[in-house]
Amino acid sequence: MDERFIELNRVHVTISGKTILSDVSFYAERGEILAVIGGSGAGKTTCLRVMTGQIRPVRGEVRVAGIDVVRYRERLEHVLGYVPQLDETGLYYEFSAIRNACLFARMYGIPTKEAERRAREILEFLGFRSEELMKKPVGHLSGGERKRVSICIGLIHEPRVLLLDEPTTGLDAHLRVDVLNYLRNINRQYGVTMGIVSHDLETAEFCDRVAVLEKGHVALFGNPREFVRSIQARYAFIASFEKLTDNDISRIKELRVVTDVLPVGRKTLKIFVRKIEEPLNILVDELEKVGLTPLSVTSSDITFTDYFRLIAMEKEEESFFPRNY
Ligand SMILES: Nc1ncnc2c1ncn2[C@@H]1O[C@H](COP(=O)(O)OP(=O)(O)O)[C@@H](O)[C@H]1O
Ligand SMILES: [Mg+2]
Repeated sequence: MDERFIELNRVHVTISGKTILSDVSFYAERGEILAVIGGSGAGKTTCLRVMTGQIRPVRGEVRVAGIDVVRYRERLEHVLGYVPQLDETGLYYEFSAIRNACLFARMYGIPTKEAERRAREILEFLGFRSEELMKKPVGHLSGGERKRVSICIGLIHEPRVLLLDEPTTGLDAHLRVDVLNYLRNINRQYGVTMGIVSHDLETAEFCDRVAVLEKGHVALFGNPREFVRSIQARYAFIASFEKLTDNDISRIKELRVVTDVLPVGRKTLKIFVRKIEEPLNILVDELEKVGLTPLSVTSSDITFTDYFRLIAMEKEEESFFPRNY
């Protein structure tokens, strides 16, 4: 049977009389990865603190690994791992990854030999392939490597749920993808349920569920792939043009096979195409017919970020006649 391993149900948080979270509900089932995404000040860290029991909601239920967090916060310690933002990790920079892991393990009463065995295993899954890397002072590691050391430490006591506050923030695009792939590895290997807080929509692509927070409430919650499937488009192409006016974009939107268009760069568009045979050929034909021959066209995936940008655009266009009022 499915079991919810992270769950906020109608959570309401106020701090000094100000509403910070309002009616927030989302969940992840056992073994899933949940992304909690939102801009600065949206309430992401507050959600994390609610999950760790550091903040008590005025209303609502919070359950983590089957524990009622509002009532039994102290039971969380052994089932919950926490990876703070990079500047708050408390890593000892003069010590190696392995030594750091052993020091943190001591707080849970894990014998050093066992801690070292676990640390090596976890670090290997996180891509630390050489002895040299495991033994290097943490201060000499790159940002991405250091991030992985703090993930290793969050996992050292074999928690059932791992919460991570902005694990990809401050990393270059390819390192962000690396860290998320490593987290996926760990999730599969150990079956640990994860809650990842991020301001980056791209994080959702790696997750089983996504909750988007806006000003303290949940704007969107669900499975990112199902959101993507819910749109009409079945194909996407990145097309660049010699020049591109607003009028050109409108004309492309009106093409028979095109469902949506998103600007990517000044002269580059992501063009979404409905389900047809030979979508690339037909798209290029239609573009040529209206005199907008592209310089290049490459096929691309439809992502959760696209979905989100498309519905945000739709909302803006409709905001003149709001649907819900
Ligand atoms: N201790 C606090 N006192 C007053 N306001 C707070 C406190 N903590 C957070 N807030 C406010 O709550 C909102 C959400 O904060 P936070 O959860 O840290 O957002 P995020 O992590 O998404 O950037 C912000 O407007 C912030 O100013
Ligand atoms: Mg935050």
